Formats: sequence, structure tokens, C-alpha cells
Amino acid sequence: MALSRRQMLCGLGGCMAVGGAAALLGGEANAAEKAPAGRFQQVNGDFGWKPHKLDPAECALVAYDGYWHKGYACGYGVFYGIIGVMGEKYGAPYNQFPFAMLEANKGGISDWGTICGALYGAAAAYALFWGRDERTPMVNELYRWYEKTSLPIFNPGEAAKGVKGNLHQNASGSVLCHISVSKWCYASQTEATSKARNERCGRLTADVCRKAVEILNAKIEQGKDFKGVFAKQDSVKACGECHQTKGNEANWAKGVMDCTPCHDGRSALMNKFKDHP
Ligand code: HEC
Ligand code: HEC
Repeated sequence: MALSRRQMLCGLGGCMAVGGAAALLGGEANAAEKAPAGRFQQVNGDFGWKPHKLDPAECALVAYDGYWHKGYACGYGVFYGIIGVMGEKYGAPYNQFPFAMLEANKGGISDWGTICGALYGAAAAYALFWGRDERTPMVNELYRWYEKTSLPIFNPGEAAKGVKGNLHQNASGSVLCHISVSKWCYASQTEATSKARNERCGRLTADVCRKAVEILNAKIEQGKDFKGVFAKQDSVKACGECHQTKGNEANWAKGVMDCTPCHDGRSALMNKFKDHP
């Protein structure tokens, strides 16, 4: 209703007139007054929200609950664990976000096993506050941490919603849901469709949210000086010299994921497949 009203007002004789009319429209008026003049112009500007520091441990717990609340939705859990918690503490605009949108991240985007949804949830949250140049170092830090860290670390104890007790931990080596989940399942001999695997991803959602909030807090403190501690992966450095360098005859490879889970020079994964029964 408000939107069509605004569009109509903007459609007739331009938005100049809206300012005057807006005063009469009460609550909706603000939005109408700030309605952008043209295509791609964002109300309040791009990356226009103000970030707030949060408690990583508190957010991790919320992320774990969010994962179960929306049905194994890792991306929803992480995003709500950051932006939802900001909304609980600071109200609008954070609490106005249509959080259910993040449910599409589940299972590496609608169960396709592409990017780990938890990781995308964090990158999307950062993008409410920071543009590309400032955000990419934050994403790099989180994603490199994820490749290298033995997960899950979080253990909800008696509050576990899937299975209780310790779970197998391993480093995925990859930001991809498929590799992360499949490797863990193979290493622990756990079925991918089991409650234990759901629990693993729920705990990992908490871990990613905690780390993402630590990075958010550091970014707020350090501003443009923010620097992660994880260096560019050896493989990306070495392979990139040819495959990602402008002017090189072999400059073909997109992306900065660790190359080795898929191409390690000995094609370990492919050889495993070759010997498959
Ligand atoms: C010194 C430059 C250089 C470096 C460093 C390099 N490559 Fe290559 N790579 C090439 C060139 C040139 C080709 C094309 C070879 C051909 O067409 O026969 C190639 C081909 C490939 C191919 C496709 C053909 C194949 O053999 O499977 C893959 C995959 C590949 N490289 C991955 C990598 C990875 C992963 C790394 C790092 C571990 C790496 N490359 C490091 C130059 C390089
Ligand atoms: C998630 C697995 C994965 C990761 C990580 C990955 N690649 Fe690949 N890459 C592939 C697959 C699969 C292909 C397509 C191979 C094919 O169909 O021949 C490919 C294709 C390529 C090709 C084109 C040559 C060809 O055989 O088609 C190059 C070069 C390459 N990758 C280099 C890299 C480099 C360098 C990195 C790290 C920066 C990297 N890749 C990371 C899976 C991966």
C-alpha cells in the first residue's frame, strides 16, 4: 500500500511534490520523503546502515537456535545471529529486515551444496555496512579461517537440539558446503541425512557466527586499518602466478578458494573416484 502510494506520488509530476504530501502521511512519510529519485539509488545510500559491536558468544547461541528455528538453515542462523541481534538491541532498521530471505542459503543454497550458507550469511550481513573494498578483507579472513579450522568447536551441552555429546572435528579445506559436509561425513562415517550431521552444521553455524562477529567488532574498532591474520593460501599464491595474473597465457582461473582440495597436483580426489567400486 505504502509503496504504491509512493510510486504514484513519484509518478505524478516527480518526487518534488512528495515532500509536502509526506507530512500528511504520518509514519510512511519518512520513507516517501527519502524515496530515491532514480534506478539503483538506494534509500539512505548504499551500505548505509550503522554497525554495532556485539557479544560473539551471545550471537553464537542465537545462530545455533536460528539454524533449528528455520529448519537446518545455516545462513539464516548466522545472519539473524548478527543483524537480528542488532535489531533486538537497537530496533530499526535492523529489525525490519526480511530475515526469512536468508533461508535460501540452506544446504549451500537450496541444498545445491555450493558456498556454505553460513559463510554467505556473514558476507551478506557485512554488506549492509561496508562496500567491496572494505568488506573483502573481512570476508577473506572469515573464509580462510573456515578452510583451516577444525570444526565444529561449539558444543551446546544439554541444550543440544539434534544430538548431544562430542562430535568429530575436521578442517574442511574448502568453503563449499559439498566438500565441507561430505568430508566430515566420510571422516566420521556419518550419514549426510542424519540428525548428527544436522547437529554438526548447527554447531558450525554457531562457530561461523562467533568468528564473523569477532571480525565485525575488530572492523568497527580498526576501521580502514582492519587487517586479517590469515595470509593468502599457498596454493592461491603459487597457482595464481600463472592462472590469475593479467597478461599470463594461462590466466584462466576464477576465485580465491584453496585450489588443493580439487587440484593438488596428484588429483587425489579424482584418483579416489577412479578406484571407486
Ligand atoms: C608457471 C605457470 C603455472 C603455474 C605456477 C601453474 N600452472 Fe596450471 N597451467 C599452466 C599452463 C601454461 C597450463 C596449460 C598447459 C597445457 O595446456 O598443456 C596449465 C594447465 C592447468 C590445468 C588444466 C590442464 C591440466 O593439466 O589439468 C589445471 C587444472 C591447472 N593448470 C591447475 C594449476 C594449479 C592448481 C596450480 C597450482 C598448484 C597451477 N596450475 C600452477 C601454467 C601454470
Ligand atoms: C571446488 C573444486 C575446485 C577448486 C577449489 C578449484 N578448482 Fe579449478 N577446476 C575445478 C573443476 C571441476 C574444473 C573443471 C575441470 C574440467 O572440467 O576439466 C576446474 C578448472 C580449472 C582450470 C581450467 C582447466 C581445466 O582443466 O578445465 C584451471 C586452470 C583451474 N581450474 C585452476 C584452479 C586454480 C588455480 C584454483 C585455485 C585458485 C582452482 N582451480 C580451484 C575444480 C576446482
